[in-house]
Amino acid sequence: MKRTLGTCYYPEHWPKEIWHEDAIRMAEAGLTWVRIGEFSWSKLEPAPGELCWDWLDQAIECLGSRGLKVVLGTPTATPPRWMTERHPDMFARDENGHVRGFGSRRHYCFSHQGFFAESQRITRLMAERYGANPHVAAWQTDNEYGCHDTVVSYSDAARDAFQNWLRQAFSGDIDALNLAWGNVFWSMEYGNFAEIGLPNLTVTEPNPAHVLAFKRFSSDQVVAFNRAQVDILKEYSAAPVAHNYMGRVTDFDHFKVGADLEIASWDSYPLGFLEDRAGATVAEQQKFSRQGDPDFQALHHDLYRAVGQGRWWVMEQQPGPVNWAPYNPSPLPGMVRLWTWEAFAHGAEAVCYFRWRQAPFAQEQLHAGLLRPDSEDAPAIVEARQVAEELREAQDVQPVQAEVAIMFDYDADWAWSTQPHGAGLSYFGLILDYYKALRRAGLSIDILPPDTRDFSGYRMVLVPGMMHLPDDLKAALADCGAEVLLGPRTAARDQHFNMPTTPLPPAFPNFDVTVARLESFRPDLPRPLVGGGAAIRYQEELESGAEVVLRTEVAAGAEAGTGAKVAVRSGRLTYCGSWLDAEGMDRLIAMLAEAAGLGLRMLPEGVRTRRTATEEFWFNHCAEPVETEVGVIPAAGVIRRPV
Ligand code: GAL
Repeated sequence: MKRTLGTCYYPEHWPKEIWHEDAIRMAEAGLTWVRIGEFSWSKLEPAPGELCWDWLDQAIECLGSRGLKVVLGTPTATPPRWMTERHPDMFARDENGHVRGFGSRRHYCFSHQGFFAESQRITRLMAERYGANPHVAAWQTDNEYGCHDTVVSYSDAARDAFQNWLRQAFSGDIDALNLAWGNVFWSMEYGNFAEIGLPNLTVTEPNPAHVLAFKRFSSDQVVAFNRAQVDILKEYSAAPVAHNYMGRVTDFDHFKVGADLEIASWDSYPLGFLEDRAGATVAEQQKFSRQGDPDFQALHHDLYRAVGQGRWWVMEQQPGPVNWAPYNPSPLPGMVRLWTWEAFAHGAEAVCYFRWRQAPFAQEQLHAGLLRPDSEDAPAIVEARQVAEELREAQDVQPVQAEVAIMFDYDADWAWSTQPHGAGLSYFGLILDYYKALRRAGLSIDILPPDTRDFSGYRMVLVPGMMHLPDDLKAALADCGAEVLLGPRTAARDQHFNMPTTPLPPAFPNFDVTVARLESFRPDLPRPLVGGGAAIRYQEELESGAEVVLRTEVAAGAEAGTGAKVAVRSGRLTYCGSWLDAEGMDRLIAMLAEAAGLGLRMLPEGVRTRRTATEEFWFNHCAEPVETEVGVIPAAGVIRRPV
């Protein structure tokens, strides 16, 4: 398959006179895809039932006639003002009960029946009109579910829907719910489902089982909302349907949304993410301020490859300074090209730059595009043209299954955030730390959904932090033949967020390990490990007769061998009960890799690799050239080597 490029375009922002010239320039730049329409509801339907398709017909024709392919977005992320008059209670409410009203975007509650029907209505009208249009080669549902913290809503509509959801989940048996949630604690028992409120506005922490159920419900509402649109699009169009997911947004189960779509895509803003999503230290933020975290994007590429069951895109690629991060520097020259090739190396079918031309008005005036507001070239288009040229010449990328996998479970993320037990303890953060350690060791990684039971082909499988581990997964992991890493908190709760009363974690057959006690502690009080590295933030006290592979140092004056057991190993199973610092993780990964027979090489800081079936890509995320085993890689440079 030939990898392709594209851009995000808003014909409704520009006079018609320049559409043709824009289309010509897009085609000349080597772009294939143009995503349009996703915020255009007020232009398509300026008043209820008054539909204006002409402009969109013309825009699609204009792009299509230049050989460009259109990704058409359903416009449901931005309901027009009249809609909010028609459905005054369609807004989501935040945790404090405040209305999240009109004047920006995503101002709807997923549970509102009236808006749900409106979203289906506009989707059907669009699908009827463009379902057979030859230029509409793909669809996008809505835009970035969850952006601006919009999955969870504390509205009346959400409360009613949640009560119904619970009624179904517990087959109408309120006693079963009371028992499962432990509502006897603090006299929280309910007499019927209609008494159950939302877990906000309580005096102190609500019941974690209640919170977790509400998170699961909120995720299911997104799945249902998306599915309703997909079902309609499928009636009228054979073109694939995508959604554009985000970086480090975990409030809905992307695997469940992805199961209804042909393509997963995501919006990659490496510099925007660096400060507050990528978990980078201050020194790393300084070093990579114009390049972005070397691993954060790659993790999402691998995650969304799994969500898309192999088919995935970058729907929005940062092209220059953005407007929304704490600081908004320009990318280092070469980085737009590097980000694009990195996505392709991880198997992206297409990379689309957000946006074609910088808007001179409204919220995103300070967000760069491929063109400046005066239509002159911005720096990113030069790099996009270069990639287009390189794609014409280069051999195709052939993705291949990796030898190392990490399981990712959205439900585990909700469980961790429901009761973190210490500042900075997040499931996503733990996965990211392990992912970074694997990448520092030069490994290529697959992310696996939590329903994976067939691990053939993998030599090493990491399942850290998966709080509810179903029995059949336990059995599959015990038998899979790969080196398996468990803990901390793996299998620490049942499906209703109760601790097992058998020894923790519920034993794997033949694996003698019990969590006797657990604690969280300050990040600035690391507990050094014998041999280097440290346990940080969180530690489980392990009772185990198995081989100890990591332990904390002996306290001064105490006897040798008395340091706490941090990681234990039996057969091919390893349980690590602590959060480790980078050095500790590097040591653990090195041990596992050796046991798994994987060759590993520690890469220089900022240099990362990715294997395909035929070659290895090398990326230098540093602002200076770096010497590696394949030669010197220039600053922000990319090297391809046959394997
Ligand atoms: C994305 C969004 C776009 C645009 C962009 C700015 O989150 O999908 O519409 O707002 O951010 O970086």
